[in-house]
Amino acid sequence: MNVLVTGAAGFIGFHAARRLLLEGHSVIGVDNLNDYYEPALKQARLTALKKSSRFTFHLLDLAEKGALEQALGNASITHILHLAAQAGVRYSLENPHSYIQSNVMGHLNVLEYARHNKGLVHLAYASSSSVYGERDIETGFRETDRVRQPASLYAATKLSGEMLSESYAQLYGIPQTGLRFFTVYGPWGRPDMAYWVFTEKVLAGDPITLFAPDIMKRDFTYVDDIANVLPKILRSPPDHHAIYNLGNSKPNQLTDFVQTIEDACEKKAEVIIKPQQAGDVRKTFADISAAQADFGFAPKTALKDGISEFVSWYRSWVN
Ligand SMILES: NC(=O)c1ccc[n+]([C@@H]2O[C@H](COP(=O)([O-])OP(=O)(O)OC[C@H]3O[C@@H](n4cnc5c(N)ncnc54)[C@H](O)[C@@H]3O)[C@@H](O)[C@H]2O)c1
Repeated sequence: MNVLVTGAAGFIGFHAARRLLLEGHSVIGVDNLNDYYEPALKQARLTALKKSSRFTFHLLDLAEKGALEQALGNASITHILHLAAQAGVRYSLENPHSYIQSNVMGHLNVLEYARHNKGLVHLAYASSSSVYGERDIETGFRETDRVRQPASLYAATKLSGEMLSESYAQLYGIPQTGLRFFTVYGPWGRPDMAYWVFTEKVLAGDPITLFAPDIMKRDFTYVDDIANVLPKILRSPPDHHAIYNLGNSKPNQLTDFVQTIEDACEKKAEVIIKPQQAGDVRKTFADISAAQADFGFAPKTALKDGISEFVSWYRSWVN
């Protein structure tokens, strides 16, 4: 495969590109290296990817109409893995316009590029567990559930991406797969996410703030479990437009998550408790039977092992 990976300097994009290169594919990465979090981390990920001669990179903003066409010319791209986005639920309350730019306009520009690329076999793109909104059920969320009530602007833009993709699949017959990721974590991770912030503060002896920890549950998913299945998904275009949950399917209470970080850091956290924040949902829980049946997706990394991998990577990164 000759794969265009958008957001290749991002957390999941880096792991996905590395996996594709390991399997012998060629990867063209694009990213705008924005400063939502430290660009030095994005540069370091790119430096690691550039060790492969089958990796090339273009610095561009997907929200700019025609940027992909101009940078890529007539490169023969067979598959697209579209991961670039403005991520994060809480920041969407602060800077809503950046979400519309990257996640709606950017998504449209990727679809337009795909529409005019005659050799394209499959476009897979990142959606999010946040499209499920607030849900009071004990069982896992299913792709067939009705998703009409996003609890944040971030979720609304991810749902918009799914809608735009559905229309392009119908109009132009572009085979597409939407991937609803559930709280992905691991080495080379994201400094804005709780596992990073908590680790940083616990190691520094600073207090951590937990929002409604007794009622919060997250389905934490180790990044290798995701990256390992992505090449298989790319190789399996659906007839039309498919959507899959990619989660661990074992939600953890926020308090247990903090305990796991304390164990890995060998240090107790000083905790400040606050009420639930706007935009946050109480629980995420993936039913992954569809991805299991179609791709043999079976996450195998226990939270304890994944967090321990992250903490040892984090220590080497800050040093
Ligand atoms: N990490 C998670 O837990 C998680 C959960 C659900 C969904 N997702 C989705 O998965 C995808 C990857 O997330 P991530 O965790 O790797 O985030 P990330 O922020 O590390 O990676 C996204 C990358 O996209 C780039 N980007 C943003 N806007 C761009 C634009 N307009 N043009 C070009 N590049 C742009 C950023 O610079 C960044 O490197 C995103 O679509 C995100 O919404 C992630």
